[in-house]
Amino acid sequence: MENPLQKYLLAHSTPQEEALAWIEAQTNTRTNYPQMLSGPLQGRLLRMLVSFSGARKVLEIGTFTGYSAACMAMGLPEGGRLDTLEINDELEELICEGWRRAGVTDKISLHIVDAKEFLRSYDGPPYDFIYIDANKREYLQYFELVLPLLRQGGLIVADDTLQGGKVYEESQKVDAQTKGLYAFNDAVSKDSRVEVVMLPLRGGVSVIRKK
Ligand SMILES: C[S@@+](CC[C@H](N)C(=O)[O-])C[C@H]1O[C@@H](n2cnc3c(N)ncnc32)[C@H](O)[C@@H]1O
Repeated sequence: MENPLQKYLLAHSTPQEEALAWIEAQTNTRTNYPQMLSGPLQGRLLRMLVSFSGARKVLEIGTFTGYSAACMAMGLPEGGRLDTLEINDELEELICEGWRRAGVTDKISLHIVDAKEFLRSYDGPPYDFIYIDANKREYLQYFELVLPLLRQGGLIVADDTLQGGKVYEESQKVDAQTKGLYAFNDAVSKDSRVEVVMLPLRGGVSVIRKK
């Protein structure tokens, strides 16, 4: 159930396209954790950030049902490419159908792989934009692995970095996911290689720029 703020924000933001609504609806009926999907507000933000930043080469860690990948691909110019990494191969059919409906199939490569393996062996051209949205326990590892693969001035967006407020509630920092995010937020905010701003959108979104 949407809260009143969420409802108002959605009512006053550009509505999502039919294909994105289809992916969201399928995710709700066919998966166990539909709340993992980034959703229309964050999807629109990602699409606009990709577009404003002029990114041509995008990386995503954590595809799930392909919603955020479709949004970012919609923000890419002609010839732009997105690599998205997913460890679980069960949702491939749904992912591909969603991208076909959104008209973004030609822009996206889906890699069924552990992101850490992919990143350690990557030797292609640098990325312009990277979205981190996978295992919260591993955020700091992803950050250290992706930073050398990001061009200077490029952006990293990390999802769920407030973990619904758990990271700043002393008594809530007990589970492994919250500890992972706490360590990530701490390390990134002290890292002189980047600048970062944390936004309270949904579970928290960090926008990080490589200096
Ligand atoms: C929060 S969901 C991603 C949501 C998606 N970005 C969206 O907004 O629609 C996280 C996904 O990361 C995947 N994942 C977790 N650990 C991973 C890893 N080490 N490598 C690749 N994918 C991973 C999970 O299987 C899950 O599908």
